[in-house]
Amino acid sequence: MRLLIPNRAHVPATGLAKWYNLPFMSQEAIYPPSPEFVSKANVQGMEGYRALYDHAAEKPEEFWGELAEKEISWFEKWNHVFEWHPPFAKWFVGGKLNVSYNCIDRHLATPRKNKAAIIWEGEPGDQRVITYQELHRLVCRFANVLKSRGLKAGDRSIVYMPMIPELPIALLACARLGITHSVVFGGFSAEALKARIQDLDAAVVITADGGWRRGKEVKLKGAVDEAVAECPSVKDVIVVKRTGSEIKMQEGRDHWWHVLDEGMSEDCPAVPLDSEHPLYVLYTSGTTGKPKGILHTTAGYLLQTTMTMKWVFDLKEEDTYWCSADIGWVTGHSYIVYGPLSAGATTLMYEGAPDSPNYDRWWRIIAKYRVNIFYTSPTAIRALIRQGEQWPNGHDLTSLRLLGSVGEPINPAAWEWYHRVIGGGRCPIVDTWWQTETGSILIAPMPGAVPLKPGSGTLPMPGIVPEVIDLHGNPVGPGKEGFLILKRPWPSMIRTIWGDPDRYESQYWARVPGAYFTGDAARCDADGYYWVLGRVDDVMNVSGHRLSTMEVESALVRHDAVAEAAVVGKPDEITGQAVCCFVTLKKGDYDHGKLGIELRQWVAHEIGSFARPAEIRFTDALPKTRSGKIMRRLLREIVTSHTVAGDVTTLEDMSVVTNLAAQHDDD
Ligand code: PRX
Repeated sequence: MRLLIPNRAHVPATGLAKWYNLPFMSQEAIYPPSPEFVSKANVQGMEGYRALYDHAAEKPEEFWGELAEKEISWFEKWNHVFEWHPPFAKWFVGGKLNVSYNCIDRHLATPRKNKAAIIWEGEPGDQRVITYQELHRLVCRFANVLKSRGLKAGDRSIVYMPMIPELPIALLACARLGITHSVVFGGFSAEALKARIQDLDAAVVITADGGWRRGKEVKLKGAVDEAVAECPSVKDVIVVKRTGSEIKMQEGRDHWWHVLDEGMSEDCPAVPLDSEHPLYVLYTSGTTGKPKGILHTTAGYLLQTTMTMKWVFDLKEEDTYWCSADIGWVTGHSYIVYGPLSAGATTLMYEGAPDSPNYDRWWRIIAKYRVNIFYTSPTAIRALIRQGEQWPNGHDLTSLRLLGSVGEPINPAAWEWYHRVIGGGRCPIVDTWWQTETGSILIAPMPGAVPLKPGSGTLPMPGIVPEVIDLHGNPVGPGKEGFLILKRPWPSMIRTIWGDPDRYESQYWARVPGAYFTGDAARCDADGYYWVLGRVDDVMNVSGHRLSTMEVESALVRHDAVAEAAVVGKPDEITGQAVCCFVTLKKGDYDHGKLGIELRQWVAHEIGSFARPAEIRFTDALPKTRSGKIMRRLLREIVTSHTVAGDVTTLEDMSVVTNLAAQHDDD
């Protein structure tokens, strides 16, 4: 149902009137949940949401302490709920627990023991259904493999795999022993992989020969060989045979997973670990060329991912839940593996591309497994909208009851399509705002409580205190744009940047004392709803993936022909932003057409295929300030509007900008 509510005074007296207790001040369309959805929801009505939010705001220690006791299994209870020595937080101090135990073992004494934990479909159509008991056996066996290689709590592993069941199995086996894992998305290059292995001094790399995407093999082992050649810390490479293609196995270092796994004991007790034991490091782009290793720890992360599964996804015992992300990104960590399994859900994993063999692959999967909750990105939705409604319309999607969106702002047109065509007009859409650093969803609707406004992440989760501020740190007030900050620490927050606590402090906590700086611009409307507008730093968001402009620039200047490069995100109808590079060349004779292709390929080689620039523009000079800083703001204006209107008084040579702006008109 679509309702436009100008203000409270004009609310019609309908059966939904109770929803209008919120004094809606803004002019947007709102979508209250249906009474039917509310009656079955985990959190019912605004009263339900308010009760949770107010409790967390007024007595945070009591709120989180009670949840931790009820929702998590402990080997030893904590001494106190949290310790805050800004910017360093500790949660559930002194407690002992194990994430793998919480995701598997504790369900075995319940009717979930033979419930599907993971339903997996490979791109070629092969499938596996793994129950919680089976998952226990597989994880114990692989944990024993890791143990047999001498790995133990505190060691680091790198996981570089396709979307196959062995990926979550590897993560859970590491977590079982306290080995801190770091998943590197399969689209990253050997260079990027090497940098991550070296930053972590990882002892083992877990990988596969390759995986399937759009009917072709995405090879992985070759990149591992290239990377590991320069990583003396790596003693073992464990390889899953997925595609069966020809790969090199280095004697003594490389081992087949199935060979090591053969005959391993299915008993491997979970190691009791400290609440703050490092669970994983996940690299993400920051504002410099060097990616940041975001560290997440054990208890707080587990609790908040578990709770948001229940609050935001309204998870029910009988649900089949599908998050279409890749486990290489944080969404997959928190909402394919840890959150769903800890909550005892059935989580679906699909290996391949949405358009393989046709544009209806996802809808086919939803119909086949009767998926109830589907979580994806606006980029994917926009790409599928372009293919037409005939693809989803050919499938029975009536099992769906809830839809989710993550990674970037969702434009109202995509929202409406998702709601109408995929959700049949009956499924609420939870637009979830969060970051690699936040660990779990922080701003999103509880779908049986909070009326939706397309494009808004709506209200904060319990325990989350956002604010929108100006350059001087003052709140901007309702309806005004500013910087989004978070005023209180939360359980699943980043603990530090691996090996670089100073960068952690300066990036997130130095701008507003005591508050976390998100790097996002936002607006909070008169109803208290948050609208996240995008990044305010030099981070691009391409298809919901973070990419730093400087990371791409550093890659470009490593090429022999390139003297200087400036990279900006260019608005793109499908991917949100696309990578646009301005390049000046060293002296020489170049074929610009050929070199443009080569440089795009070069960036893909240096970072990964997902970072491949959409556009390379050659220019004689780049616009700079008098101090020599490249004025990306002007370049952004050029790619967005093809003109420059902003303040240019600090510009070194205005003719550069004029030429660049004019160049667009030429091509
Ligand atoms: O700019 C915000 C955007 O994605 C950034 C975080 O990216 P990453 O760490 O890769 O995590 C993505 C998945 C959680 C944020 O700073 N972002 C994420 N979700 C939304 C969003 N922007 C608007 N609306 C969202 N729902």
